Amino acid sequence: MKRSYYAGRDFQKALSIDELRLLAERRVPRLAFEYLDGGAENEVTLRRNRKVFERIGFVPRTLVDVSARSQAIDVFDQRIQSPFIIAPTGFNGMLRQNGDLALAAAAKKAGIPFSLSTVSTSRIEDVAQHAGGRLWFQLYPLKDREAVKRLVERAAAAGFQGLFLTTDAPAYGNREWDQRNYVRLGHPSMRAKLDVLAHPVWLFNVMVRHGAPRLANLTEFLPPGKDRAIDGARYMSKQLNEQLDWSFVRWLREIWPNRFMIKGLLSARDAGIAAAEGIDGIVLSNHGGRQLDGAISPIEILPEVCRQVGSRIMVMIDSGFRRGSDIIKALALGAKAVLIGRAVLYGLAAGGQEGAQHALDILRNEVDRVLALIGCRSCAELTPDYLLFQK
Ligand SMILES: Cc1cc2nc3c(=O)[nH]c(=O)nc-3n(C[C@H](O)[C@H](O)[C@H](O)COP(=O)(O)O)c2cc1C
Repeated sequence: MKRSYYAGRDFQKALSIDELRLLAERRVPRLAFEYLDGGAENEVTLRRNRKVFERIGFVPRTLVDVSARSQAIDVFDQRIQSPFIIAPTGFNGMLRQNGDLALAAAAKKAGIPFSLSTVSTSRIEDVAQHAGGRLWFQLYPLKDREAVKRLVERAAAAGFQGLFLTTDAPAYGNREWDQRNYVRLGHPSMRAKLDVLAHPVWLFNVMVRHGAPRLANLTEFLPPGKDRAIDGARYMSKQLNEQLDWSFVRWLREIWPNRFMIKGLLSARDAGIAAAEGIDGIVLSNHGGRQLDGAISPIEILPEVCRQVGSRIMVMIDSGFRRGSDIIKALALGAKAVLIGRAVLYGLAAGGQEGAQHALDILRNEVDRVLALIGCRSCAELTPDYLLFQK
């Protein structure tokens, strides 16, 4: 069926995440939008992340009183108001000035946790001080252990309650959009530069008014005067840790005092090891189709992982979630919570903090409606009986 999408300028009128995406595309230049939206290589996994939900149908119950329903869940003994969490994403300041602060504030308003990336454009301490709320920190396992120690100590001191160790990036994913937009790291192509000039509001707010965004947590590891985003990106590319293995995980757990989670698993075997190691939680993820093209979608392995380790470890999931119905499907298959990546970034790019809040509102309303329509009063009541898989 053909759909007509909202083509106006007011993000508050966007009815769905897809409509926010269209607005985002118009608000920011290509080099920012394609970085946000694109996937690795042929984007097979990126597409698969959406397609996979179409093969899972609902088997609704009726004649159930759903007048009093709640989507709040407990995450590590704390109540959160919706079954989703903002995923860690880098360079948010490229979409909107102070993007990390805006997202953290939107999460706080929605009563859900916000995850701050290692490669954020706001400092750990500034997010804690200015936005507050329930905060989790994401760590890329840098080669330099002293730098890792310093980052996690800063996050713990600032009051971050959880740590995600991202394990699916021993090398950069092959994102050709980014390569096309930059002739070399940090040097936009002529096509990208001309496109930036066509977005004067973005150019002024993001690049001029506040100064170009930097990888704020990494500047202390860079030589004085060499702390631009491109210097941070160069540092990161040298620090990607191809030697990462379980010994790093054990070492990190010793120095991190709060909840510890691994993000980026796709194999039930790895989930089994994580449970045996006593890790608090895992995020099944293919990094939103940005790393290994051809990887499976995490929801395909979710039932198997929950069968094997679901009672021992908190299983979370991300990649491709754009509708409340997607979230409900994952919960029914045994996930405890869903991480939201691009869905909220489209809102941020379209309308700053209010745009991000609007994206979270859309998801919350959709979750609520689906609960009603399948005859279910709470996330805790969800089971695979509400679903049917099509081949
Ligand atoms: C623009 C962008 C930047 C990202 N940066 C990071 C990052 O710094 N660290 C990380 O662990 N994951 C990062 N991710 C992956 C997300 O945490 C998450 O796994 C992914 O976005 C989920 O897929 P979705 O965007 O389809 O929801 C990034 C994703 C996007 C879209």
